[in-house]
Amino acid sequence: MMEITLQSPLDMHIHFRQDEMLKVVAPLSAQHFAGGVIMPNLLPPVDNLDRLHWYTSEVQQACVGHTFDPYMTLFFRDYTAQDLELAKPHIIGIKLYPAGATTNSDGGVQEIMSMAHVFDAMQELDIPLLVHGETHGFVMDREDEFCEVYRALATRWPRLRITMEHITTQKAVGLLDEFENLRATVTPHHLIITLDDLAGGMLQPHLFCKPIAKRPEDRDALLQAALSAHPKLMLGSDSAPHPRDKKECPGCAAGVFTAPIILPMLAELFERHNALANLQAFVSDNAQRLYKLTPPAKTITLSKTAMMIPELYGSVVPMWAGRELSWSVTAIS
Ligand code: NCD
Ligand code: ZN
Repeated sequence: MMEITLQSPLDMHIHFRQDEMLKVVAPLSAQHFAGGVIMPNLLPPVDNLDRLHWYTSEVQQACVGHTFDPYMTLFFRDYTAQDLELAKPHIIGIKLYPAGATTNSDGGVQEIMSMAHVFDAMQELDIPLLVHGETHGFVMDREDEFCEVYRALATRWPRLRITMEHITTQKAVGLLDEFENLRATVTPHHLIITLDDLAGGMLQPHLFCKPIAKRPEDRDALLQAALSAHPKLMLGSDSAPHPRDKKECPGCAAGVFTAPIILPMLAELFERHNALANLQAFVSDNAQRLYKLTPPAKTITLSKTAMMIPELYGSVVPMWAGRELSWSVTAIS
């Protein structure tokens, strides 16, 4: 039977939430991954050391019994250099949200360039900056417009390591080769779907997320970069659970929940394109190098054995609920 083993896969962008939701979703990532970057957009956000310590311990408790390193983040705000120095040992980076760009980002940044002193300090301390890169423009143009901000940040702070989170456009892929200090995550769903899958036929709320899925040429550029294991591109699922009643309603919340199916989806996709040999780099090696990480040892075996995607995990409907995937995780050690 066709099989592939992956060493210490990492999910470099995950929403774990808190309370009951955390208990449902965290184990689903912790079973398949050796580590992951945990997003700080709770209400209120994780934006001080006390809250960071509290959230870290909540996450650790939710992952008990699994070999999984949670890489914690702080929510970007006007931190002092001393705040950052104290936080540095406990975080992998700081996540910047433009105010109002997505779920729970109302406390985000209004005027990015007014935060120059924070970027100065982050660069000096070598703390990575993780960015939700969307302007407040027309929804299909938000990421392309934000590329100007990425250029400005990358040029003015050449030693600041900047991750363009969940990129969705051909233009953002191009920036990877233009600036040494820019790197990116991409989600499995943005490698597969376009706006047509979301809204071209009957509306599919479980495929609605920010940034919104774009054009075929964007999807193709992302896919090409992932399949060829572009050295500056990492898996970051942006798995973002919302209860079913917040998705299947007027005012559908943004977020696609993929945590339990990420690796099978990717195995199926990479196999279809004869690129299974590049999956290891995409799901772990690139992230280890770019973030200088040594995750715990963990071997995940995937086999070409079909799995049916459940209709629900707790109150959350996963992407492609009820569909079959041709690959599944068959051993974890
Ligand atoms: C995320 C969420 O629900 O927290 N939603 C999303 O559509 N991706 C926030 C985010 O990463 O933008
Ligand atoms: Zn996210």
